[in-house]
Amino acid sequence: MRNRLLLAAVLACLGFASLLPQGASAHGDVTPQPIDTAGLDALKEGEWLSENPYRGNEKAKEIGASGYNQNCARCHGLEVISGGLAPDLRYLELGKTGDEWFIQRIRHGAKKPDGSTMMPGFEGTFNQEAMWAIRTYIESVHQE
Ligand code: HEC
Repeated sequence: MRNRLLLAAVLACLGFASLLPQGASAHGDVTPQPIDTAGLDALKEGEWLSENPYRGNEKAKEIGASGYNQNCARCHGLEVISGGLAPDLRYLELGKTGDEWFIQRIRHGAKKPDGSTMMPGFEGTFNQEAMWAIRTYIESVHQE
């Protein structure tokens, strides 16, 4: 079952790319799904933290799992198991070092040297609460 889902996700990703005009950023154009962060302690808008305030928080993990599967899984893989399109986030460093890298990437995304988008940035799309909820989920499935 899981393999079938994974295959469907990969095919959806590839299929989508082939439908777009050349030069357009395939994944960057997919509409991000909103993440409802009700129930989490609110963070100050515009004050970016460098460390996850929700580490180990069950509610954050639950919100993050859903946010991840709707917005990140198409590249990073369902249940954070990468099919090879993007890095496997289970191996992202634990703790503050991983947090700092994570928040930079999720806010700003990643571009190739030629300026094309490898990963869209999510700043302005999700609030900071949603970002740290996703980090909480990712850290909960960490592998060495
Ligand atoms: C369009 C595909 C795509 C989507 C959607 C996407 N990413 Fe990425 N992500 C990438 C690629 C490709 C890289 C590698 C970039 C590089 O090599 O510089 C990456 C890198 C990262 C990294 C750094 C990993 C490392 O080992 O250096 C993090 C963290 C990350 N993404 C988190 C996320 C999160 C969280 C989401 C969802 C909110 C997300 N990404 C959505 C494609 C994507």
